[in-house]
Amino acid sequence: MIIVGLSNSLPVAGLMARKLRAPWFAVEKNHFPDGEIYMRFSKNVKDQHVVLVQSFHPYPQEALIEIVWAAAQSRAQGAKSVVLAAPYLGYVRQDKEFHSGEAVSVRILAGLLSRYVDRIVTIDPHLHRIKDLETVFACPVKVVTANGLLADFIKKNYVGCVVVGPDEESEQWAAAIARSIKVESTVLVKTRFSSQRVRVKLKGDIDVKGKIVVIVDDIISSGKTIAEAAKLMKKFGPKRVVTVSVHGVFAGKAIFWMKKAGVREITSSTTIESAYAKIDVAELLANAVELQFT
Ligand code: R5P
Repeated sequence: MIIVGLSNSLPVAGLMARKLRAPWFAVEKNHFPDGEIYMRFSKNVKDQHVVLVQSFHPYPQEALIEIVWAAAQSRAQGAKSVVLAAPYLGYVRQDKEFHSGEAVSVRILAGLLSRYVDRIVTIDPHLHRIKDLETVFACPVKVVTANGLLADFIKKNYVGCVVVGPDEESEQWAAAIARSIKVESTVLVKTRFSSQRVRVKLKGDIDVKGKIVVIVDDIISSGKTIAEAAKLMKKFGPKRVVTVSVHGVFAGKAIFWMKKAGVREITSSTTIESAYAKIDVAELLANAVELQFT
C-alpha cells in the first residue's frame, strides 16, 4: 500500500502513513500560467494499492480535479487499486433538485468518482435524504464516524457539561455523544430561511445554569446555526458556551459570527485543516482503510 497526500490533507496523509507503516508522498501540484492544473508523482505506484487522501475543503473544485488527476495517474502507472480516503466528502448536500433545473451534485460526483476509484472511505458525510452513499455510488463506500473522538475530547476538556444539538438532525450524534460520556443532552429546532439566516428554538427542557454548554454539530459552514444556538443557550445562564464539530468548514465570517454570539471555544476535527482542528482523525481513517484490505 502507498499513501498519496493531496493538497488539502497532507498532515492527515502523513499521520495515516505512519499508523499504517506504509510509504507516502505528497503530490507535486502546481498551476500553469492560465490556471490549468499540473500534477506530478514523485514515486512510481506500479503494482501498489494507492490510497489518495484528500478533503474537499477548501477549494472543492480544485480538490475534486486533484482526485481525478491523481487517480488517473495512479492507473496510468499501473496501480493495483485506488482508494479515495476523503476525511471530508464534499458535494453531498445537494442531493435533490430542490428547484427545477438544478444539477444534483451528489449523483454527478458519484458517477465521476466511481469511474476513477475502486472504493471510498470517508468520515460522517452530511447525508439528508440519501441514507446510504452506496445507493448512488457504483463503488463500495465505507463510512466511519468521529463521534467517539468528539466524545473523548468533550469528556476530557469539558467536565460537567451538557451537550446541545442545534437542530433535529443533530440528535443522532448529540444524543450518542452525551450517552457515551454520561451527561444530559437536548436538541433545538431549527428553521432555515436561507444559507445565511436560521432561527432556533428549544424543544425540550434542560438545565444549563452554571454548566458548560457544548454545542455539537457534524458540520459548521456559515457558523449561523451555532451562533443562533449559542445566543439562545446563553439566555439560560450557562457557565460558558463552546462548540465541537466534525467538519469545520468555517466559511466566510463563520468564526466572527460564532465569537460575536458568545461562543468561547471552537474545536473541530482534522477532517479539514484549520487553526481550530484539534481532534485528530488520522487513526480513525487509517483503521478504516486497513479494513478494506483484510
Ligand atoms: C445541518 O443540517 C447541519 O447539521 C449543520 O447544522 C449546518 O450544515 C450548519 O450550517 P451553517 O454553519 O451554515 O449554519
